[in-house]
Amino acid sequence: MDAFVARSLEEIRFWARIMKEHSLFLRLGFRCEDTQLIQEANGFYAVFEGIEARAHAFTAATDPQQIRAFNAEVHNAVSHIWVFKRKVLGLILTCQLPGANNFPLLVDHVSREANYFRNRLAELNNGRLEPLPDAIIDENVFFLKIMADHAKFIGHLLDPSERKLVDQAREFSNDFDQLLWQAQDLSSMRPQSQTKPLLSQFLDQNRVSVASLRDFKKTARDLIEACRIKSIIHPLLADHVYREAVHFLAIIDLFEQALTGQAPTPLPAAH
Ligand SMILES: [Fe+2]
Ligand SMILES: [Fe+2]
Repeated sequence: MDAFVARSLEEIRFWARIMKEHSLFLRLGFRCEDTQLIQEANGFYAVFEGIEARAHAFTAATDPQQIRAFNAEVHNAVSHIWVFKRKVLGLILTCQLPGANNFPLLVDHVSREANYFRNRLAELNNGRLEPLPDAIIDENVFFLKIMADHAKFIGHLLDPSERKLVDQAREFSNDFDQLLWQAQDLSSMRPQSQTKPLLSQFLDQNRVSVASLRDFKKTARDLIEACRIKSIIHPLLADHVYREAVHFLAIIDLFEQALTGQAPTPLPAAH
């Protein structure tokens, strides 16, 4: 089995679905009269739906050259959706979409995820991976910010009358803001901070909080699906942020294994 093929397909299967869902969330937040933006969002939905289907049709036995070309094609599509997301962010921040329902931070957030995906694809095709200690810090800085944002989105999209849940979301937001600062501190202390005990403790601490946020998101998703709580959160958005937490946890586990020398396999490198 070719590791390059397997990792490319894994990455594309996960992120193409994410990009497809971003297109849906953006579309839901536009106003009825924004027909041009709605059409563009629908176009991206179809593009990533197609990419996702093709990624599932390929297997680990597919010719690596074919996967290399596929990665380049997906990279191009992701660049386009990134431009679209930044354009929408610009329209919101210049008050050209009054009354639309996407928070600027959410649009920035989904553009950062597109940028991350694009960098992963470039890295896979270049065959250049960051050294493990750098990858550990960079991936955690990226994903801790993503998790901190999710907690804020949940807190703001729940109905204000769901006081208990809003409080819990705020606690997660504070917790992840702290972890993000700690990660940035560790980053600025590079390379002296890249010792095995410090990196291992860093991963342990992050894992505990991510696992607890994942459980909170799962509960929220189940409650929203069963219509047991008041919110303007789309059930698919609740599931989407839950899956991103599961993805981050899997990355933390891979790093932990690599750090303790249990995994000879190549790691997810940083963006
Ligand atoms: Fe996302
Ligand atoms: Fe996200």
